[in-house]
Amino acid sequence: MESIITLSNVSKSYQLQQVVKNLSLIIPEGSLYGFLGPNGAGKTTTMRILIGLIEADNGEIFLKGKNIKEWNKSLFNHVGCFIDTPSYYPNLTAYENLAYIQKITNKPLSEVNRVLKITGIFHVKDKKVKNFSMGMKQRLGLAFAMLNDPDILILDEPTNGLDPEGIHEIRNFLINLCKNEGKTIFVSSHNLAEIEMMADYIALINQGELIYDGKLDDILISKEYIVKVKQTEEVIQMLTSRGLEITRLRDGKISFKTDQNKIAFINKQMTEKNVDVYELTPRKRTLEEMFLDLTKKDNPKKVVGLYE
Ligand SMILES: Nc1ncnc2c1ncn2[C@@H]1O[C@H](COP(=O)(O)OP(=O)(O)OP(=O)(O)O)[C@@H](O)[C@H]1O
Ligand SMILES: [Mg+2]
Repeated sequence: MESIITLSNVSKSYQLQQVVKNLSLIIPEGSLYGFLGPNGAGKTTTMRILIGLIEADNGEIFLKGKNIKEWNKSLFNHVGCFIDTPSYYPNLTAYENLAYIQKITNKPLSEVNRVLKITGIFHVKDKKVKNFSMGMKQRLGLAFAMLNDPDILILDEPTNGLDPEGIHEIRNFLINLCKNEGKTIFVSSHNLAEIEMMADYIALINQGELIYDGKLDDILISKEYIVKVKQTEEVIQMLTSRGLEITRLRDGKISFKTDQNKIAFINKQMTEKNVDVYELTPRKRTLEEMFLDLTKKDNPKKVVGLYE
């Protein structure tokens, strides 16, 4: 796992308020990395720091192995970003807005139609941006980020203001960019369900502080399993005799807690006893459950992430 973006002990204060606190993150190359936190958690601030829009008070940031301070404008040949509501020329069309950027940066105009197409706004390319709907503006923002085909995308709440269909489309678009084109995508959101559907890795921050970072699967899969069998009573007897606490669920299912490495043995035991097993699955906690649990003010428990 190569790290393509590394933050090391990054802090930032505004006046007396520390809004990013000793944040360290490793974003693996080719990952779709979800950056989660409630309103005011410090997501946008972190992303602004990441692309050099504002400076951190402390800490270091490496992009493609090079300190952010050593990058000049050429950083944007590699990084596409969508942070805050991007500003446009309202009296210019979508095409003209994009073409303008290409011209002043001496980049090919052919890119403009390409990004208009992939973000789904080619059909409105000649409409003035002031007449764009919120969703169209979001897509135009993404089109800007996609200009010149960068290999890293830093996207701050890109689905804000989109309708469910738009959210679905953008999500699939990002998944495709990551899985089929090998892009690294660092995307923030406060919509937990959305990140859950696309991210490989997540970092959760609250009040500027890292609460969890690591593989999404690791945080979602708890040690609770659900089994559905024909011979329910026999299996309950078997599990309780192993000292496991069981709960009867509806539909004849049984839930119990154990370690992953014991599951194979339990499964074997059931098969040896000729139990008909219809289902044996880990109970995935939703990110929502995890998040509420981890950000509870009085929760002394801190989850140790992958990289600590
Ligand atoms: N330029 C600034 N001057 C003063 N305080 C700021 C500034 N920018 C951000 N803040 C404060 O920093 C904190 C973090 O803000 P930030 O915008 O990074 O949060 P966020 O996680 O992006 O929130 P949201 O989900 O609402 O977008 C907030 O308390 C905010 O008021
Ligand atoms: Mg924000």
